[in-house]
Amino acid sequence: MESFLIKGGVPLHGEVAISGSKNAALPIMAAALLTGEPCVIRRVPDLSDTRFMARILESLGAATKLERGTLTVHAQKIRGYADYELVRKMRGSICIMGPLLGRLKQARVSLPGGCVIGARPINLHLKGFQALGAKIKIEGGYVEAAAKQLGGTILFLGGRAGSTVLGTANLMMAAALAAGVTVIESAACEPEVVDLAAFLTAMGAKISGAGSPTITITGVKKLHGAEHEVIPDRIEAATFAIAAAATNGEVTLRGARADHLRALTDKLNEAGVAVERRGENLRARRRAALKAVDVTTLPYPGFPTDVQAQMMSLLALAPGISIITERIFESRFMHVSELARLGADIEIEGPSAIVKGGRPLSGAPVMASDLRASAALVIAGLAAKGETQVNRIYHLDRGYEGMDAKLRKLGARIRRVEEK
Ligand code: EPZ
Repeated sequence: MESFLIKGGVPLHGEVAISGSKNAALPIMAAALLTGEPCVIRRVPDLSDTRFMARILESLGAATKLERGTLTVHAQKIRGYADYELVRKMRGSICIMGPLLGRLKQARVSLPGGCVIGARPINLHLKGFQALGAKIKIEGGYVEAAAKQLGGTILFLGGRAGSTVLGTANLMMAAALAAGVTVIESAACEPEVVDLAAFLTAMGAKISGAGSPTITITGVKKLHGAEHEVIPDRIEAATFAIAAAATNGEVTLRGARADHLRALTDKLNEAGVAVERRGENLRARRRAALKAVDVTTLPYPGFPTDVQAQMMSLLALAPGISIITERIFESRFMHVSELARLGADIEIEGPSAIVKGGRPLSGAPVMASDLRASAALVIAGLAAKGETQVNRIYHLDRGYEGMDAKLRKLGARIRRVEEK
């Protein structure tokens, strides 16, 4: 297994190109299943998750080709049964259910199962499919949905932690080919949902309200092929902005969208970090000494849970007490014990982590546990004195395109090695 070897203490300087959004690309790739015509999706990040999704689409019978970030998907003839060995390994693959149900009126997918950050239930997805008229069967670790015809309806997607992002995606895709009008109440408002709606509209779907808690979809008979460019990855942009602040550097985020980062920018500003527009780009740097702040993760437009771990690494450097409360997932603090190995003083109290920041961090070997926790450990290693080895960085390669190369371009002393 591979590791990152980081020699910390170097302020990052320069410009980084923000890749296409993983969390927009995955449901958009799945949406290409809704038509028998070819679709062209640009700015698809080259990640293990997107490569995985391409393999899943192929296991359903679609042809895919990824060339320099442009993915062509042609799902001329497909079947509704996914390759279980593939599907069970990536929770995000649950978003093939909606398009399979919409196009074939049946889908059989392995239950995604939980992961280190939480149980990852799909009850809201299934509730929505049933509301559209599908019969749901769960047996042997698989979920099957089938319907003679899908009928428009009003469905409520509010759950234990607000809405569901992939649940909203799944139901938009199924409703696009249902007979009649579907209204999704308490829909997720994330930019990735808006991007999926834009792609579906380009395919001929009739959708209004994406980005608001109420999305209306008027079903059509057929959808046609379309071209689309995926939005930039707001979580990658946030990660690099925080890395710039943590190393007391100055980094331009090329292509980042200011309107997707308001909660982060607001919180970073409170902590003494300026994220300012520079033409089409954003620039991040400290504008004063770091200050302790409180953070609570919420559904969009609130502070993103996918940036919680990275923010904790920054706040470990800010003198004073910061309280970070995780309201979306039930166990997204795996990075706390690893940050403690680098000298961070953090205590977990239920859904909150109490960060006593300001002590300098010093390098040590640490273990990545999930995608965003790994990013937090890289940020802490970049700021720590001495050498940090981040092990199991396959977690990181799932969601960051060439992170080590991008960081080296910014002056970081980081290299990829085989784990000792
Ligand atoms: C998406 O996951 C993202 N993944 C996650 O990013 C992100 O953290 C999450 O949205 C929240 O923003 C992709 O888009 C591929 P949810 P998703 O359904 O859709 C509960 C990353 O690091 N819930 O919005 O699976 C659930 O338990 C990943 O890039 C139900 O109770 O998340 C959680 O507490 C990690 N029932 C909350 O809702 C359901 O049926 C939010 O989950 C579905 C979800």
